[in-house]
Order: sequence, then structure tokens, then C-alpha cells
Amino acid sequence: MFTASEILKKINSHIADLKFTRTPQGLYAPVSYVLSMGGKRIRPVLMLMSYNLYKEDIVRAYGPAIGIEVYHNYTLLHDDLMDCADRRRGKKTVHKVWNDNTAILSGDAMLVLAYQYMAQCPAGYLKEVMDLFSLTALEICEGQQMDMEFELRKDVKEGEYLEMIRLKTSVLLAASLKIGALLGGASAEDAEHLYNFGMNLGIAFQLKDDLLDVYGDAAIFGKNIGGDILCNKKTYMLIKAFEHADDRQLQQLKVWVDAGSFEPAEKIAAVTDLYNQIGIKEICEKKMAEYSERAMENLVAVKVADEKKKELEILMGNLMNREV
Ligand code: IPE
Ligand code: IPE
Ligand code: MG
Ligand code: MG
Ligand code: MG
Repeated sequence: MFTASEILKKINSHIADLKFTRTPQGLYAPVSYVLSMGGKRIRPVLMLMSYNLYKEDIVRAYGPAIGIEVYHNYTLLHDDLMDCADRRRGKKTVHKVWNDNTAILSGDAMLVLAYQYMAQCPAGYLKEVMDLFSLTALEICEGQQMDMEFELRKDVKEGEYLEMIRLKTSVLLAASLKIGALLGGASAEDAEHLYNFGMNLGIAFQLKDDLLDVYGDAAIFGKNIGGDILCNKKTYMLIKAFEHADDRQLQQLKVWVDAGSFEPAEKIAAVTDLYNQIGIKEICEKKMAEYSERAMENLVAVKVADEKKKELEILMGNLMNREV
């Protein structure tokens, strides 16, 4: 049985060894660039940890583990373009180093590469794994579309937000865990509990990402702070701010959300100040705790010795308390 950090080390060294030798080099250089920037690698780590609950020979799941990380990184290339984000993992985003078209096409190539790696799974599991992967990839597109449509709406409800982040973020964590479980030979019940564990963990994970987008330290978080505020992302925090604001706060919040032209730093400071007055950070943290508790219940239901599941519990705790 491996610890999360042992698995992370193996994943990182495997990714560092990947070579993209096809041409034109202009298509593959951004692929190497984004994969060399690190990141937490939580999806392949979750997949291999889930596999490792049942089997020791984790190398057998390396193909799909790399596939899920390459897939995740592809979503980041396109997401940064859609979100007009300049920084990721402390470096310039692909569309800033190169250009928009490069981010689109290198992203497309990464999606195909991800399928190739994913298909390196043991033959007997190929159909089930690829079906789940494809469904998950579609759901992520659906979540990303909702995320963009919500930017233009003012009446987004908490339930709609939770469904949007379930699709854009949680399903990939859930699928990582389920694929690991399937490849490890878990029972259908266990595979489903691990899927649900990832789903609830993923909601809490995206709530934390939204929180760090306001309250994080750019130097640690690696992304510019306030990006979500600038483009009126309907985050849990903004939705709750609208719900809990008094008349004066509500009026100010509306002014900033409706503002056509503004000084970016000024808008970020003003909205953050309103969040502080309303106590949004605490409201968000409470919701995160609620979802990590649900995730714990799913983990408890997995029929594997408690000491084996401890590593996943610790990993979840670390993700909830993360600064990056
Ligand atoms: C960023 O994912 C996109 C979200 C779903 C919040 P991560 O926070 O896992 O990013 P990296 O891979 O660690 O950089
Ligand atoms: C990420 O949502 C979801 C996907 C990439 C599919 P965000 O837009 O919040 O992710 P970051 O903050 O840019 O990493
Ligand atoms: Mg983004
Ligand atoms: Mg986004
Ligand atoms: Mg974010």
C-alpha cells in the first residue's frame, strides 16, 4: 500500500518522462509546457489510490492515470482561454505565451492524447472505462457551458450553481476514483461509493477553488486573484452575497456586477470588501464542510479495511485546507 505522496512522486516522474516527438513542434511544445508546470495531480493520484485499495501493482493503471491528467490539462488550456486567465501554476497561460489558436489546437491534440493513454488500460476493462471517460468528458463540456451562460445571468440559484460545478469539476474526480476501483477489481457497490466520494469531494474542492480565487495568495495559488469577480462568475460566494446582503450592500453589489467599465483592482477590492462585510468566507467554508462530511460517509461505506482508507481521508483533509 502506497501513501498519497509516494503515488504523487511516481506520477510526477512518469509525466516528466513523457516525450512528444511528433511534429510540428509548435503543436506539441504547449503540451510539454503545461504538463511541466506541475499542479497537484490529484486526479491520477486519486485513481491510483483507489486502485491501490484493491491491488498493489499500480503500474498497471499508469496509462489511464496519465490519460486523466492529460485530459485535465487539456480542459485547463481551453478554460483559461474562455476565462481570459493570464496565469496558471505561477506561469503564463498557453494562450498568453503563444496565442488563442494555439491553445485551441494544442488543447484538441491533448484531448486525443488523453484518449490514447486512457485506452492503454487492461483490455477486459476497455469498454467500461472508455464509456465512463466519454460520458464524463461530455458532462464537463456541459458544466463549462453552464458556467459561461451563468456569467450573463443574474438569477442563478444555489442549486443551479451546485449542478454546474458537479458537471465541470466533480465528475472528473469521481470518474478518476471509479476507474481506479474498476481496474482494481472492486465490487460494483464499492466502485459506486468511491464515485460518490469523488462527487462530494469535488463539490467541496470547487467551492475551495472559488474561495481561493478571492482569498488566496497569488504567489501560492498560481492564478491571478479576483478573476471570478471580474467576469461576474456566479460562484457560491456571489450567489450567497446577493442572498445575505442588506439593502445598501445589495445596491453596491449590483453597481459592480452591472458596471460596463471599471478599474479591475477597484472592482476586486470593492466586491471582496462586501464579501467580508457579509461573512461570505465563513458561509462558503460551512458548505465545504457539509460536502466533505458527505464524502466521508461515502468513504465509510466502501468495504475495505479502515487503515487502507485512511490515506484518502487525509488527502481530502489536505485538499480542504490547501492554499494552492
Ligand atoms: C483546477 O484544477 C481546475 C478546477 C477544477 C478547480 P486543479 O486545482 O486540480 O489544478 P492543478 O492541476 O492542481 O493545477
Ligand atoms: C475549472 O473551473 C473547471 C474546468 C477547468 C473544467 P475554474 O475556471 O474555476 O478553474 P480555474 O480556477 O481556472 O483553475
Ligand atoms: Mg478558469
Ligand atoms: Mg472556468
Ligand atoms: Mg477557479
